[in-house]
Amino acid sequence: MCGIVGYTGPREAYPIILKGLKRLEYRGYDSSGVALLSNNKLKVYKKKGKVAELEDSVIGLDLQGTIGIGHTRWATHGEPSDRNAHPHQSQSGELAMIHNGIIENYTQIKKELESKGYHFKSDTDTEVLLNFIEDIKINNNCALEEALRIALKRVVGAYCILLISNDDPTTIIAARKGSPLVIGIGKGEHFLASDASPIIEYTKEVVYVNDYEIAIVKPDELILKNLGNEKQTPFITKLDMELAAIEKGGYDHFMLKEIHEQPNSIFDCLRGRLLPQSGQIMMGGIENNMDAFIHANRIVIVACGTSWHAGLIAEYLIEELCRIPVEVEYASEFRYRNPVIHKGDVIIAISQSGETADTLVALESAKEKGAFIFGVVNAVGSSIARLSNAGAYTHSGPEIGVASTKAFTGQLAVLMMMALKIGFAKKTIDEKRYLQLMRDLESVPEKIKEILANTKEIERIAEKYKDASDFLFLGRGYNFPVALEGALKLKEISYIHAEGYPAAEMKHGPIALVDEKLPVVFVATKDSYYQKIVSNVQEIKARKGKVIAVATIGDDIIPGMADDVMLVPDIDEVIAPLLSVVPLQLLSYYVGLYKGLDVDKPRNLAKSVTVE
Ligand code: M6R
Repeated sequence: MCGIVGYTGPREAYPIILKGLKRLEYRGYDSSGVALLSNNKLKVYKKKGKVAELEDSVIGLDLQGTIGIGHTRWATHGEPSDRNAHPHQSQSGELAMIHNGIIENYTQIKKELESKGYHFKSDTDTEVLLNFIEDIKINNNCALEEALRIALKRVVGAYCILLISNDDPTTIIAARKGSPLVIGIGKGEHFLASDASPIIEYTKEVVYVNDYEIAIVKPDELILKNLGNEKQTPFITKLDMELAAIEKGGYDHFMLKEIHEQPNSIFDCLRGRLLPQSGQIMMGGIENNMDAFIHANRIVIVACGTSWHAGLIAEYLIEELCRIPVEVEYASEFRYRNPVIHKGDVIIAISQSGETADTLVALESAKEKGAFIFGVVNAVGSSIARLSNAGAYTHSGPEIGVASTKAFTGQLAVLMMMALKIGFAKKTIDEKRYLQLMRDLESVPEKIKEILANTKEIERIAEKYKDASDFLFLGRGYNFPVALEGALKLKEISYIHAEGYPAAEMKHGPIALVDEKLPVVFVATKDSYYQKIVSNVQEIKARKGKVIAVATIGDDIIPGMADDVMLVPDIDEVIAPLLSVVPLQLLSYYVGLYKGLDVDKPRNLAKSVTVE
């Protein structure tokens, strides 16, 4: 949450920062701002609303400076407004700071500062931390870096901060704990950002700053230190990402582009790993830790949101194919409810961003208790990827649209390969089924292309139901988590209230909602639950509900019963979620579009939830 950008070097900082903020806008977009430094004078401009509004508001103003910091905000403390937007300036006006994260003990620190005569212009925890740093600097008559170090030792919470001072015209001081920070290494210049997207067009050499590290960044020098003031060696990583991957490539929205990228992103995920011809699945992270999986008494899956839905599908997969008990936990609950964790317990963490605060902290505490953490992560080099003992990247490429689409199917592809590999090694599936499921998985990219080749019917359905006030999504077996995901997508993108339910559970309550106005989406592909779901459709039709079905091409029963149908190719039920979710992604996209909403940046949301 919140995107941060910084630049120090020979070029004008503002255009670099502005472009970077636009790339990071998916992380939060309720306000934005920049601080620029030239001639020992700080200039701070900030504006409520999207980055474009900041851009308009600074036309004609002094934007000169070869050092600067910028921020796009997802509000935590204080409503979205000009005065709560970052950067904040210290009371003396000498320091400017941006912050991603939450300072949990800020009220205590604020009271102390107020008793010393400090006044605050905003409601933010950030302004408190900044003045705390300034107060320490003044009282100890020390360097800014030292004051920051002392302040951070008092701070409880998460932060990535960038700090500039008008008495140091070239240096950005940065620090991180729990919120991401990447530093791009240029020739005589440095770029700082929450992720690599603002950096990629300038350099591919980056340093991922670790928790509890402070970076002193000058145009031609990068010094990393820990909070004990000991120098750390920066570890330079080469980015494996192209600029085109983070641009819209001719699509109107990132979400649509990312839905359409799925044949390729899944192909990339399977490439070199899934080898049906030789009957092998090459996954080093599993191979090297096979004993931990085979002998696990249970597997706990920890995730949030869409990634949690992928986890639910993994529960069905792993229990069926590997016969290992699986529990799927919301990270935010798991971390606080004092769960029983034994040494050697296997925890699978699923996260697109690899930065979700709830997931990250849940894993940290599980790791401390001796659990083995396996990360299924999309963002390379992210915090969760680095914390994991082993893992498998989803290789879905950058996902910019706030609604997760291709990252979800990438997670499913990885989890399916894992379950197949472990099940085969454990001999809980026979070779025939193992090979058949591998071939089915290999066929997924082509089958998704078939769905994407004909989206007109889904567009029509979206337009027909766009004004509904509620939706129900129902599915059974592997398609139940798909129903949950369909409901989440619709809520996020169209702001229509939607609930996902196991189809059979509907008669224990939600059926009371059904009337002629309620669209009920059935994920009703041909699987072992098919006859049962046919009965559930009849139960809805008998109560005059409108049925929209995701059905299998060639099915002649469900399409005859439903009011509207979205067809998907036939595939084994274990693999089916990879296909059945695609029409639901498109449905929510088109409903949002017909309602005139900003599908890439839905209100109140942020792509990467780096606060609790
Ligand atoms: O980056 P993560 O996968 O850890 O994010 C988890 C959720 O915040 C995320 O899936 C969220 O639910 C998406 N907006 C869903 O589209």
